[in-house]
Amino acid sequence: MTARILTPTEPYDRHPAIIEGGELLRVGELVAFPTETVYGLGADATNPAAVEKIYEAKQRPGDNPSIVHVGHNADLLEIAVVEDSRIVALFKRFWPGALTMVLPALEPYKSTVGRGLDTVAVRMPGHPIALALIHAAGVPLAAPSANRSGRPSPTTAQHVFDDLGEVIPLILDGGPCMVGIESTVIDLSGEEAVILRPGVISASEISDVLGQPVRYAIPDDQKGHSPGTRHPHYQPRARVVLLERGISQSALAREIEMHVTTAPGGIGAILTSERALPAFPVPMTIRLARHTDALERNLYAYLRELDALGVGVILVESVDEGEAVMDRLRRAAERG
Ligand code: TXA
Ligand code: MG
Repeated sequence: MTARILTPTEPYDRHPAIIEGGELLRVGELVAFPTETVYGLGADATNPAAVEKIYEAKQRPGDNPSIVHVGHNADLLEIAVVEDSRIVALFKRFWPGALTMVLPALEPYKSTVGRGLDTVAVRMPGHPIALALIHAAGVPLAAPSANRSGRPSPTTAQHVFDDLGEVIPLILDGGPCMVGIESTVIDLSGEEAVILRPGVISASEISDVLGQPVRYAIPDDQKGHSPGTRHPHYQPRARVVLLERGISQSALAREIEMHVTTAPGGIGAILTSERALPAFPVPMTIRLARHTDALERNLYAYLRELDALGVGVILVESVDEGEAVMDRLRRAAERG
């Protein structure tokens, strides 16, 4: 199978690509689609066999639960226990948008997308193509990021094709994702509100709405932690090395020298502060992302691009703000 890439245009709800996507989903097939954060790999969340196909296609570890994407707030009632006033406060403020809530799950969702947990993660995406597709399917969509498991998330249709083009029938193309990193995941299944994965919606924004403190999950806190974070994530083939923000010219030169022997294909660098760059003793490919949001939006594309060039090491300069992008960088720099 080779995936077709189709580009829906407005009005989306009547576009043949959306209608076809909805039909494929209803018969249990997979369809990749753009969201404002990253591309998702969708399946009918009410069809257990379709959900299993996601795990096969991505080669995703079976214990990593998937997010359910809804097209109407009311769909939540079929998926989770919605007695908690915090849930309504958060979806009123942030949906559609980059916030995923982990909630007590209703029965079928515990075993399918929940992978045996008592909870289910739900979000309403903000991208009009995603919403049109969910409405066309007429069911909520299970959808993890549309990358092969462990790889950087896809932020263009071509990234999805590169990873999954041989195993899925259809990719909807909505251009590059505006946000570029995945949604904030907040666990509301207990009394505390715990961020399992930081994203562009910050702890303080959530805390303001809840009138309650919000804490980050501690890495080894099994209960409060997202099961997916046990597995390698966001990793290009090249080794990723994290540099401090504003690293001096001489320290950068030392880093490069240190990696020359292990990077026969050259060195890639993603730099966030401006500098006069000296001539380097090895082939260097440099990408500049001068602001935190530019680093967020371009990070995965740059990692994939540098990988495609065959570099052995990717040096990435940190940013001061941006808990979410720093979280992804730390994970990308871990070696599984
Ligand atoms: O922005 C996003 O969230 C994208 C787009 C496509 O919506 N989706 C995405 O899905 O990033 P995925 O599967 O790549 O990441 C979902 C994260 C994983 O770390 C998973 O372990 C966690 O959410 N998760 C899902 N269900 C959970 C649950 N019931 N309890 C705790 N964590 C859960
Ligand atoms: Mg993912």
